[in-house]
Parts: sequence; C-alpha cells; structure tokens
Amino acid sequence: MHIVHTIDDLRRALKPAALRAFVATMGNLHQGHLDLMQMARQAVDARAPQGGMTVASIFVNRLQFGPNEDFDTYPRTFERDCEQLAANGCDVLFAPSEKDLYPEPQVFKVHPPADLADILEGAFRPGFFVGVSTVVHKLFNCVQPDIAFFGKKDYQQLMVIRRMVQQMALPIEIIGGETRRAENGLALSSRNGYLSTEERAEAVQLSMALKGLAAAARAGNAAGVLDVTTIEAAAMEALRARGWQPDYLTVRRQHDLSPLTGPCDEPLVVLGAAKLGKTRLIDNLEV
Ligand code: PAF
Repeated sequence: MHIVHTIDDLRRALKPAALRAFVATMGNLHQGHLDLMQMARQAVDARAPQGGMTVASIFVNRLQFGPNEDFDTYPRTFERDCEQLAANGCDVLFAPSEKDLYPEPQVFKVHPPADLADILEGAFRPGFFVGVSTVVHKLFNCVQPDIAFFGKKDYQQLMVIRRMVQQMALPIEIIGGETRRAENGLALSSRNGYLSTEERAEAVQLSMALKGLAAAARAGNAAGVLDVTTIEAAAMEALRARGWQPDYLTVRRQHDLSPLTGPCDEPLVVLGAAKLGKTRLIDNLEV
C-alpha cells in the first residue's frame, strides 16, 4: 500500500488508475470500515482488474466537530489502521495533515439543504453536515473517485452525500454498506472505544429500543392507526428509565427522512441518538 500525505502526491499516485474506488474515514478503523474497503476492492477487481485502484483516506475533520465535541480526544490509531487497510485490499492511503488539506482556513463550504441537514443529527450537532459535506466534496475533488462507499450506520450522512453528488452532478456512484454489529447487536463505531465494560454491555439497548420502535411502527401500520408521537415517546422513555439521555428516537420515511403524520406504506427507517454516560451513540434500522 502506497501512503501519501499531500494532494500533489495523491494525484501522482492515482494518475495511472483506470478506475478509482474510494473509502473516506477518520481512522480508528473497525470491521465496518474494513467491509467498505473490501467492497471497494471487489468493485475494482470486477470492473477494472487491470489498472483500477482502491483508495482510502484517514483525516479527522475538525470542521465537522462542534466546539464541545471530541475532536482533540478522537481516537487516532494510524499504525494499526495502515496495517488493516493494507490487509484489506487498499492500494493508496491518503492521510493528509490539517495543513495539507486545509492550508488556509476553509472559507468556501458546502451547505446542504436544511430540510435534510438541519434535522436529526443536524439539529443536535449544528454545522455537522456542513463540515461533512465540505470535506467529502474536497476529498472527492482530490481523489476523483468513480465509486465511493459509505456506511449505512451514518444513515443521514449517506443521504446528504448522495444528494450532494446528485445536485452537484459529480460523476461518482455512491454505494452504502450495511452496518456491522457486534455479536450482541451493538453497531460498531469508533466511539464505542469510549465505553466502559458495563456501558458496552448496556449500549446494545439503543438498537433494542429501535427494534421495538420498528415493531410498533409495523404494528400501527398494519392496524391502520399509527400514532408516531406516542410510540417515539415510549421508546425514548424506555431508554431514559435505564439511565440514558436520548436526543431522538424516531420513525421516518426512507427516501427523505421526513416525519410521518399517520399510517404510511412507504419504506421507513427508525433512527436514534442517545448518550450513555459521556458517550453519544447513533444507530438506525430500515423497516
Ligand atoms: O463517517 C466518517 O467517518 C466521516 O464523517 C467522513 C465521511 C470520513 C467525513 O469526515
């Protein structure tokens, strides 16, 4: 695996590539990231076995962290990440420093539409999707991928990126990877590393609560009386009773994350975010 740090070196390394398949990360990789890397490898081997290249990036993007969030303490495990990427089919790793990617303050930014980006995660993390969209757009400009892979664990992020690519007419195919879970059902996340042993055992309750909410939504739809406000409040209360601080647990339409006012026969998704101790976790389930 070829490791490059500057945009110029990246462009040189990728110049001969007949096809580029890209996985953007902030490092501290887990199996969910490695699944995406393997999907990228398979796509290149299937579509351009001669001369295609897989590319990953590791960059902890200050722009997407709020002032009271964990930018400084975000786990950085570069050596281990490199070994894992190399073992999972990565050809080129782009690992810029902040000076390499943002040599001057990044004053041109991508502002995604409020109806998609100021709800759910965006409501609790103001500016988060501006930071994500800006860095992903910039990384896309640096890598110029043909295909890019993002995890469904960050469901709203995947939607924001899909909309950005479509609206900006970027010639990139976006592919979503399924959420990787631990044996007990806990969604893998770099932030799981913040959890104590007891919290780790408790953390699966977020996905259990979402399963319960999904079942309640299905049952309400089947009966033709879906009271979303009531089932969402009950799911939040159940977590609160276990000592969590939920931000939201909600049933939304899959295609635009808009809320429901009653029974709905469109594909749905339940999404949740909640704090356990000091750690904020997110998860979702397609219904
Ligand atoms: O999902 C992440 O790890 C980050 O939000 C991303 C897409 C790499 C942008 O910094």
